[in-house]
Amino acid sequence: MKVVLGVSGGIAAYKACELLRLFTESGHEVRVVPTREALKFVGAPTWAALSGNPVSAEVWDDVHEVPHVRIGKQADLVVVAPATADVLARAAHGLAGDLLTNTLLTATCPVVFAPAMHTEMWQHPATRANVETLRERGAVVIDPAVGRLTGADTGPGRLPDPAEIFEVCLRVLRGRPRDLAGRKVVVSAGGTREAIDPVRYLGNRSSGRQGYALARTAAARGAEVTLVAANVTLPDPAGAKIVRVESASELRDAVLAAAADADAVVMAAAVADFRPATRHEAKIKKTDGEPEPIFLAKNPDILAELGTLRREARAAQTRHADAAQPLPAAADPDPVVAGLEPGDVVPRRERGAYPEVIVGFAAETHDVLANGQAKLARKGCDLLVVNQVGEGLAFGTPDNAATVLVAGGDPVEVPFGPKEALADVVWDLVAARLP
Ligand code: CTP
Repeated sequence: MKVVLGVSGGIAAYKACELLRLFTESGHEVRVVPTREALKFVGAPTWAALSGNPVSAEVWDDVHEVPHVRIGKQADLVVVAPATADVLARAAHGLAGDLLTNTLLTATCPVVFAPAMHTEMWQHPATRANVETLRERGAVVIDPAVGRLTGADTGPGRLPDPAEIFEVCLRVLRGRPRDLAGRKVVVSAGGTREAIDPVRYLGNRSSGRQGYALARTAAARGAEVTLVAANVTLPDPAGAKIVRVESASELRDAVLAAAADADAVVMAAAVADFRPATRHEAKIKKTDGEPEPIFLAKNPDILAELGTLRREARAAQTRHADAAQPLPAAADPDPVVAGLEPGDVVPRRERGAYPEVIVGFAAETHDVLANGQAKLARKGCDLLVVNQVGEGLAFGTPDNAATVLVAGGDPVEVPFGPKEALADVVWDLVAARLP
């Protein structure tokens, strides 16, 4: 495939070298089109040597080949990484003062922007409006990552990991649908840690790969993703908002907060069922005698709680919609409900109702399907992804096989393959259930 890599003038321009290599090493033909400012960060010889193609920021070089039209027209994909506030503004307004903006005006292929800039610039109303305009025209604008920026500041504005931008581009090149655009989804990933004392914890083997694959694929399909990550060390998926947690209790708070206005929640995290009943404030010291036993207390079952909250919210909605039933305004602390008249239909989002689709995961070592079916019913979720775990299976590996159990429907078998493929099957099933 022919890829145009636009590079604009931000410090993250050096990361585009890695993105370029990912494209060339997977057999793509890449033409790098930097802006003049980008060349102040990384010079043309670097781009030319890495891409094997001529490099220019100007429309005045090789004019006989009409590069300002040809490059854009021939491309299968244009990706601008990093995209500065300036280049987003010029693209949104159709300015054409250099080769990159000419290319953006002549390209008929999909266009991906990976913005990187200081938080203030990203949040400025002018940039917000430009991003909106570009998205309305069909461009994919990846939300920048949150983290350390140039200098001492941190916040949203970091260029996502090149490998993550590459994944988004591959999906766009393969023509995967953006069927989750406008949807809010929550994904939990990783494994919780339950503190014993300040240095020790009870944990599990979950790497977070499946949850990250779910977040990555949902973002690539256009969803607004909140990824609640418990102790995961993988690179942040491009475009997802990440909330980092450690314990089951923190994970519960983060998931419930994000779930209140989400369309779907996928609980891929391995949540500890128990925590040490007492968290020692000081490190437990080795003593000569027998060690002290560790007593356990039960953690809340977040997935089951989501199912219950949704059931209750739906019941309340039905009650409030029924004119014959008085509103429980005095008893109900919800200010939205308190302001309604009997007979009003409570809008789902305002009511803070719970997600349309709730998905659980179950790792089982034996009787996989029977245990899964019982769990699906017990937890009140819509889909349950069950897989067998044990030596070399599922945990920490890039591949997985699973069966997706469907409430009131037939199970869907997902053959052994990348966790992204399983994630796509889950989102296909979720998308089919969203109104
Ligand atoms: N889960 C949860 N809260 C917990 C435990 C699990 O939300 N305290 C969620 C997991 O994220 C997963 C699903 O429930 O989506 C199933 O997890 P699993 O550990 O298999 O379920 P358990 O009810 O703990 O069953 P088991 O007795 O097999 O451990």
